[in-house]
Amino acid sequence: MAKKSTSAPKSVAKAKGGKPVYVLNGPNLNLLGLREPEIYGHTSLADIEKLVTAHAKARGATALCLQSNHEGELVTWIQEARSMASGVIINAAAYSHTSIAIHDALAMLDIPAVEVHISNIYKREEFRHYSYMSSVVKGVICGLGVQGYTLALDAILADISK
Ligand code: DQA
Repeated sequence: MAKKSTSAPKSVAKAKGGKPVYVLNGPNLNLLGLREPEIYGHTSLADIEKLVTAHAKARGATALCLQSNHEGELVTWIQEARSMASGVIINAAAYSHTSIAIHDALAMLDIPAVEVHISNIYKREEFRHYSYMSSVVKGVICGLGVQGYTLALDAILADISK
């Protein structure tokens, strides 16, 4: 019978003591909780960040949460993630539908990235149906509300512990 390992897989151990998963949120998500609650719910960004941070901690990992209303700042953080992060969760918000710069930055990553949308973008206006992010990330979670962030974290931790 195979012996059950008592230690965490190497790469989760690395995420644990070492590199955080970057959780990047784009424009207008700083106003979550106040912004169109019928679409995005009542949870604030600060609460989402607490949730993801606690979820990471419970799994022996760490999360670094950042938000910006500026495209270039998001690009800079994705570039930084190349050496500083073990994975990236990105909700680029409206930039998902417009930004080739963020697409190009994500395409350079060799760590897992997961795109998250709180709302189901396919049930909404047509201009939200295309995302420049989707073709350069490992996976996409949309329409599951704030739970999308913790699901994305689990997917990244599973991927890096392979
Ligand atoms: C969003 C969906 C985008 O279309 C929108 O521009 C956002 C939020 C979401 O989380 O559902 O700002 O990314």
